Amino acid sequence: LRIGVLFGGRSAEHEVSLLSAANVMAALDPAKYDAVPIFVTREGLWLLSSFEGGALATPSSGTQLCLVPGGHGRMLAIPAGGTPHDLPAIDILFPVLHGLHGEDGAVQGLAEVARVPLAGCGILGSATALDKDIAKRLLKAAGLPVARSVAIDEGAAPSLTELEEQLGLPLFIKPARQGSSVGVAKVNASQEFDRALTEAFQHDRKLLAEEFVRGREIEFSVLESPAGELFVSRPGEIVPAESHGFYNYNAKYIDEDGAALIVPAELPPEVEEAMRGTAAKAFRALGCDGMARVDFFLMPDLNFLINELNTIPGFTNISMYAKAMAASGVSYPEVIDRLVAHGLA
Ligand code: DAL
Ligand code: MG
Repeated sequence: LRIGVLFGGRSAEHEVSLLSAANVMAALDPAKYDAVPIFVTREGLWLLSSFEGGALATPSSGTQLCLVPGGHGRMLAIPAGGTPHDLPAIDILFPVLHGLHGEDGAVQGLAEVARVPLAGCGILGSATALDKDIAKRLLKAAGLPVARSVAIDEGAAPSLTELEEQLGLPLFIKPARQGSSVGVAKVNASQEFDRALTEAFQHDRKLLAEEFVRGREIEFSVLESPAGELFVSRPGEIVPAESHGFYNYNAKYIDEDGAALIVPAELPPEVEEAMRGTAAKAFRALGCDGMARVDFFLMPDLNFLINELNTIPGFTNISMYAKAMAASGVSYPEVIDRLVAHGLA
């Protein structure tokens, strides 16, 4: 089975994708899969990559690839200065891209147009989950608990005083369509507020101001079977180091001691059951299929809120999706097998 693995990409999570994709490549059993790594440059070009000694090549030029519309996986290779030629068609596309242009339905739509099966979540669930504002509206409409928030459009930001009345302090400012906490800031005072808005607007035209929730960060991996049944993993818990204030980009990927992962998280069984049920409902509420990681805050009184869903969750060494699945008896290669089977169904 020829599997096109897309990685890199145009989003701010380009580097995270490199880490995720190296692990996905390593978990693809060569006896079953003929993996074709495809590096998406920051400009969005698709270039033929290679995987050797556990490392993915990230060329800046070379053979450009093109998935042919309606081509059932047919790919055209365009060597720099050479003659375009056909590559053997891929049987399935596996995007390991995080954030905009990869996790937001764009590439999922491309797979549809190319008429090639896709591993992971489809167009609708990808698009709704990536937009934190739209996702919250759908979760709320489904009667599911989320933190209070206010959407902020560029050029129409309320004052911090107005936000404080609705959300209290501190509060979080987040780009609506970003991942890995890129552009996210915790705000206590007006000076920080201006800086946070400027920074977050670098990443998106729409932001979210969100109430600060003091709770444990608990995450579940959801994986759909080819028949449409949902498997929800045991919970994982993220304990960010005090020094980082919250589970930000540095705590995630830069500082090796930035956070501890506890899998499975210790929760009262009835709380775990309630959260797993809610994770499945959230997955459906956003129109997801295939896969997603559902992130929660669990408060000291054992009430919980859904923070967000990630339809292409990190697969880095420190990422939760595979760890929570492993703690639930599903190994990393098995996760890949199931995603591929779901995509082909
Ligand atoms: N957005 C990152 C990759 C995650 O959710 O794991
Ligand atoms: Mg995210």
